[in-house]
Amino acid sequence: SSNSHGVVEVKHHDKDFRAKQLIKDAILDNGFLKNLDAVQIREIVDCMYEMKFVKGQYVIKEGEIGQHLFVSAEGEFEVEKDGNVLGNIPPGRAFGELAILYNCTRTASVKALTNARVWVMDRRVFQIIMMKTGLQRRDEI
Ligand code: CMP
Repeated sequence: SSNSHGVVEVKHHDKDFRAKQLIKDAILDNGFLKNLDAVQIREIVDCMYEMKFVKGQYVIKEGEIGQHLFVSAEGEFEVEKDGNVLGNIPPGRAFGELAILYNCTRTASVKALTNARVWVMDRRVFQIIMMKTGLQRRDEI
């Protein structure tokens, strides 16, 4: 969607201070995302929305095309590749960033080990946020 100035806008989802802080800290803790600038991180925080998963449900399936970036909020997750467990994801971590950043297929599966809650962002929205900041920077030159 774009406004009368041709500027693309993305939908914001209300959340409390604690949720915003958790998402921001998760992004700053992620080696691939922490170098985004403050404006981009704030936009990501504002645009994420909540999703719930039940115990045993897959959040991400290895080999699929990635459509979402996630931040774990509640519960525990397991990372699996080729049937092997690579590790666990506790609350407060960003995951699913590789397929979104590098346009590759999902490098591993992520399964909810408990009933769980995550913050989600659509790939398209992530790309709009990246592009918007690039255009703003160009305007400043
Ligand atoms: P992506 O490849 O998009 O989807 C699977 C996600 O699992 C991946 O992004 C990372 O966020 C995460 N992941 C991949 N490998 C590991 C690992 N060895 N340990 C923890 N998390 C991983």
